[in-house]
Amino acid sequence: MENILTGIRSTGVPHLGNILSVIIPSINMVNKRKKGFFSFIFIADLHSIIQTENIQNIKNNVYNITATWLAFGLNTENSIFYRQSDVPEVTELAWYLSCFFPYQRLTLAHSFKKEKDKKKINVGLFTYPILMAADILLYNAKIIPVGKDQLQHIEIARRIAYFFNKRIGKEVFSLPNPYLQEKYMFITGTDGTKMSKSKNNYIDILSSNEILKKQIMKIQTDNKSLEEKKNPDKDYIMSLYKLISPKEKIEKMKEKYINGGYGYLEAKIALYEQIICKFSAERNRFFSLIKNKSLLDEILFHGAKKAKNIAIKRINYIRKYLNFNSLLS
Ligand code: TRP
Repeated sequence: MENILTGIRSTGVPHLGNILSVIIPSINMVNKRKKGFFSFIFIADLHSIIQTENIQNIKNNVYNITATWLAFGLNTENSIFYRQSDVPEVTELAWYLSCFFPYQRLTLAHSFKKEKDKKKINVGLFTYPILMAADILLYNAKIIPVGKDQLQHIEIARRIAYFFNKRIGKEVFSLPNPYLQEKYMFITGTDGTKMSKSKNNYIDILSSNEILKKQIMKIQTDNKSLEEKKNPDKDYIMSLYKLISPKEKIEKMKEKYINGGYGYLEAKIALYEQIICKFSAERNRFFSLIKNKSLLDEILFHGAKKAKNIAIKRINYIRKYLNFNSLLS
């Protein structure tokens, strides 16, 4: 049976883009799985420190992400929900894998290419995809729910697995595949480009009503007046509204756009109200979970034990093929 695995970097509260493209689809898959195969959901705190300023907020951000997964209904009995740094075996595997992947190829990773001309980039940013491959291959995961920006990283993980297996002459690792729904390939942020934390164009549906409203008011529009007819297919408010509303509501909104006499401000308010209405249970759960740090710690502790158990067995198995037979294990 195929293992599922996904991670989210601990750099803040997951925004609407993360929630729709990764969190909800993963939970839908994980919660209906039967016994016998594993689902790994983790918080990528080791990855988050490639920006060293994240270190101060790491604990809070881990809590934020933990509470988000739980608020959206992740079943932690059905899955292995853990913090990456609780299973440091992954860094050992990252080292092994790095020896099987050509340096030149890694220089082609978008995440590195984008930043490489900046003065201060660190080696961690460069080897980021290797640690990500280790996350996946350590648990022999095959189905990897991710956003579109991560597709190249999954490809790198596939390549590494392939090179390793070929060199060793055994299928030590299965080749992972990305899992991504077309509909959520490109979720627009407030400026019409892809929603992302680093661009500050995101909508944080787990923030207070005031902050949420402010973010929605930032959505860029053309400057048509209230009376004018508007194009529902070329509008960033509408493209978000469509993702979270039932059909009838979408049709009604489209009509209003086409008929004119409906302003962007009203559309923004409608989007705001739809978010509050659709996610009210999740928001309430999030706000109460985030206050209960000891419960969050307990859940992560439970998950770390399960993950570590599997990781130790797997790393021992992998070491064997590298002729490392530790006298201590
Ligand atoms: N790089 C991913 C992101 O920024 C997070 C991540 C780390 C991940 N390791 C992973 C995702 C393994 C899937 C599988 O979103």
